[in-house]
Amino acid sequence: MAVLIVIIGVVLGVCMLSTALLRWNEMKYIKKGLPPGTMGWPLFGETTDFLKQGPSFMKNQRARYGSVFKSHILGCPTIVSMDPELNRFILMNERKGILPGYPQSMVEILGKSNIAAVHGPAHKKMRGALLSLVSPTFIKQKILPTIDQFMRSHLCNWTSQIIDIQEKTKEMALLSSLKQVSGLESCSLSKDLMPEFFKLVLGTLSLPINLPNTNYRRGLQARKNIVRMLADLIDERRKSKETHEDMLSSLMGGGENIFKLSDEEIIDQVITILYSGYETVSTTSMMAVKYLHDHPRVLEELRKEHLGIRERKMAEDPLDWDDYKSMKFTRAVIFETSRLATIVNGVLRKTMKDMELNGFVIPKGWRIYVYTREINYDPSLYPDPYTFNPWRWLDRSLETQNYFFLFGGGMRHCPGKELGIVEISTFLHYFVTKYRWKEVGGDKLMKFPRVEAPNGLHIRVSDLYT
Ligand code: HEM
Repeated sequence: MAVLIVIIGVVLGVCMLSTALLRWNEMKYIKKGLPPGTMGWPLFGETTDFLKQGPSFMKNQRARYGSVFKSHILGCPTIVSMDPELNRFILMNERKGILPGYPQSMVEILGKSNIAAVHGPAHKKMRGALLSLVSPTFIKQKILPTIDQFMRSHLCNWTSQIIDIQEKTKEMALLSSLKQVSGLESCSLSKDLMPEFFKLVLGTLSLPINLPNTNYRRGLQARKNIVRMLADLIDERRKSKETHEDMLSSLMGGGENIFKLSDEEIIDQVITILYSGYETVSTTSMMAVKYLHDHPRVLEELRKEHLGIRERKMAEDPLDWDDYKSMKFTRAVIFETSRLATIVNGVLRKTMKDMELNGFVIPKGWRIYVYTREINYDPSLYPDPYTFNPWRWLDRSLETQNYFFLFGGGMRHCPGKELGIVEISTFLHYFVTKYRWKEVGGDKLMKFPRVEAPNGLHIRVSDLYT
């Protein structure tokens, strides 16, 4: 009996303490005008529910509090906006003091001059320098031939093998960018850089705890190593009289780049290019392979487009700009993949001062999660939204509608959009004209917080014509 009383006492005690803690945490954030919502536990907030339940957590909170609510996730008091109109307003109004709000670990590892860490004139300069590297003329004349050459060699000899398409598309995204940046992909630089880059990526996604054996510490060290490799490359280029026709050469002052960057800025810009295109391009490519596998009619239409291009060319002819421009269905497949898989759930911002949004007061320094995922499944924009239907994108007005946020919006709209599409299109071109494939089966896919196959996505590849 005594034991039972003790157990009941302990349980009651724990319940009361938990309630008191939750209540105390809510009180801490009581401020007139804040949106409704819950703040969860001290320190951890609602991070566990957010990560575990993902989109359902967001939908539940929206059902209870409306499409703008407060929470405490990933270490910060946060306003979540699922309101398309407000999301658009936030993206368009950086000048009113709503700046990028990416986690500290990301900013430290990607560098102080990284485009997401700067604003105002510094952002204008870094963005301007980047835009001149991805202009249609630069892509047409310099980048597309480089990507074509890369994809041909990356995609050779896959026949009769079981490959992990996740691993292959990750390698592809990094090595292809490295070739565009420095003209190099299979030399010692890329061999040394690749493992460091993977550590850097993991570091940016970790808690900023700088202790031995943490991903964050490894990420910081990887950044140091990559900075050293890139600084050596810049030095070598300055000493040699050789000319180069790649992004690095343009950033160092070659060509028509009117934006003069310091070496530190050049290095951060290169890291930004490698980083920003890495996960987006690789995951979209992997998911396109997955959806094409599951939708034979789409694959047939896509293949028809690409075999049509090959018929007009000699086997060894590279893809040119006109070929790329003719890939209307491919572009539609890429957008539909990006929409249905939701490669990007949203973007992060932070307030630089107390401000009023949608009638709510948002305190200075709070993070805003511009959560765009649900727009991808809005039936008024995308009828039958859970169906993989690339044909819907053949109506080009879908790409210009007000709530098209697959590539962000406003002053931070993805400058690499066209470059990314060129890369994925070229990959798909060689993949579907060379190969057939079957999923080996059983591989798990995670959709949140990032789209990934935790144990890889394995496919058995065979020659298209055997
Ligand atoms: C399918 C591929 C891609 C997708 C889905 C994508 C998506 C996005 C999104 C949603 C943003 C907005 C971020 C924000 O507002 O905070 C963004 C920004 C950015 N993207 Fe991409 N991206 C892709 C490919 C690329 C590539 C290949 C590059 C390489 C140059 C790139 C470079 C950037 C940069 C530098 C920014 C930041 C722009 C700024 O802050 O001004 N992206 N991207």
